[in-house]
Amino acid sequence: DAGARPPGLTAGEADRPRLRSERWFGPADLRSFGHRSRAMQMGYDPKDWEGKPVIAILNTWSDINPCHMHFRQRVEDVKRGVLEAGGFPMELPAISLSENFMKPTTMLYRNMLAMESEELLRSYPADGAVLMGGCDKTTPGLLLGATSMDIPAIYVPAGPMLRGNWQGKTLGSGSDSWKYWDKLRAGEITREDWLGVEAGIARSAGTCMTMGTASTMTAVAEAIGLSLPGASSIPAVDSNHIRMAKTSGRRIVEMVREDLKPSKIATRAAFLNAIAVAMAMGCSTNAIIHVIAMARRAGIDIGLDDFDRASREVPVIANVRPTGTTYLMEDFYYAGGIAALMNRISAFLDLSCLTVTGRTVGENINAAKVYDDDVIRPLDKPVFTGEAGGALTVLRGNIAPDGCVMKPACCDPKFHRHSGPALVFDDYPSMKRAIEDEDLDVTENHVLVLRNAGPLGGPGMPEWGMLPIPKKLIRQGVRDMLRLSDARMSGTSYGACILHVAPEAYVGGPLALLKTGDVISVDVEARSISMEISEAELERRRADWKAPPPRYERGYGWMAAHHIVQADKGCDFDFLQADFGAPVSEPAI
Ligand code: FES
Ligand code: MG
Repeated sequence: DAGARPPGLTAGEADRPRLRSERWFGPADLRSFGHRSRAMQMGYDPKDWEGKPVIAILNTWSDINPCHMHFRQRVEDVKRGVLEAGGFPMELPAISLSENFMKPTTMLYRNMLAMESEELLRSYPADGAVLMGGCDKTTPGLLLGATSMDIPAIYVPAGPMLRGNWQGKTLGSGSDSWKYWDKLRAGEITREDWLGVEAGIARSAGTCMTMGTASTMTAVAEAIGLSLPGASSIPAVDSNHIRMAKTSGRRIVEMVREDLKPSKIATRAAFLNAIAVAMAMGCSTNAIIHVIAMARRAGIDIGLDDFDRASREVPVIANVRPTGTTYLMEDFYYAGGIAALMNRISAFLDLSCLTVTGRTVGENINAAKVYDDDVIRPLDKPVFTGEAGGALTVLRGNIAPDGCVMKPACCDPKFHRHSGPALVFDDYPSMKRAIEDEDLDVTENHVLVLRNAGPLGGPGMPEWGMLPIPKKLIRQGVRDMLRLSDARMSGTSYGACILHVAPEAYVGGPLALLKTGDVISVDVEARSISMEISEAELERRRADWKAPPPRYERGYGWMAAHHIVQADKGCDFDFLQADFGAPVSEPAI
């Protein structure tokens, strides 16, 4: 309770709902004296906070995150919007999960950002939150925390970077690194060329401009209703992005007054909308893990089957690489962006869902138009249809009883049905060495397998699932093979890669029992994957299996290893899930 207020310290009208921050700034006690005098130390005075919503801006800017370079300035635009609308902005830096630099993988730290976000909002006088992220894991990290805390929150996506350019050719993040790396290994381009690609592939602030995990997850956030309409498609360096940031700052102040919290927006129908949008965009496989985690945080049961169902129904209409053949996010924006795409697939959406605008999805998108039908295709001219397996497909069988996923749209269709002998690697370094070996005993019919690369085994489930094609085969012109792992892969990756095998090998999932030479059979249409080994033989191997040594003996990694749940459940920590313990409470004192 705010307690008695000394005269002049709080100017709110009697009928206004009390702000959470008044617990800090309002009471006439010694602790609040401390809060006020220290706010004054920073140059603020009571006019800055009295009756004004405090807006916590969780900014994931960092010197080591190129995708968020512009957030250092952009946060000033958010603050400007907050001030204009009568709020009190407070920037709170949060860990920047920089996809390109963190080892072993940012995925290990997604839950750390989630915990940090939740605790920043809980422990500080935040009435509302602006969440600034974009690079892959930052979007789910911030949203997981805001979901658990459940105060009004709006998401400001970093926006994609400009198209890459090298010798007049367009370059796409990730996708073209793999492509030109293979060309270099095949001797088709020179070292000099390779350096040119290196210098031209990332030309501006912003997130990967292919339909990678960043573009997918910012679209997911918007489709759930947590960003302003169209926000996620705006290139990072476009002045529309500045205006979007400022408008988000204004809007969050109103949202606090309306008490418009994530729990009113992120409903089951909203998550299903997000899944439909992800499918239409030809999304990253990582969407599965993050959306499941986010839904479970909100106490909503979303699982692999919801993705498989949507992938059968919703055609891929965004012709953006790597699922599409030609375009990048910049083109997608000029073609109308996500609002136009959502309008086009409105038959698959629940248009009545509430969003951060205070209006429904339907109201937000009904005027949005497509300006280029080759970039955002009509429903009857899709890039890929659900009949052939859709954007994402969930397979099950004796090797993956809890499922695994594949992107049939992104691979040579001959692999939609395939049987071949396994070539098994127990860890990344031995795989890396072997594939460069020109004498490796491998054919293009082999199934390359990498295991012990899951949530605990990786650790952190690194993006190793697009195993490189062995050099020997590259030289023969082979560019795709069936690959299988308990790892993830980058959203910018492509090929016949089967990922997220659950349970993972490291905890004794059946993948651990596979041996080189065993035959693996995949049938995408039947949604099946199996290893052709008798039950009796599997039992024998299970009896011989020994758990690998722990990856971490202390610290955050140890905590993660003891609490992370498997990929099909979203890789959250068990103690953060909605069904664990009592609900989130306010600080006691
Ligand atoms: Fe940051 Fe791709 S590396 S979005
Ligand atoms: Mg990525």
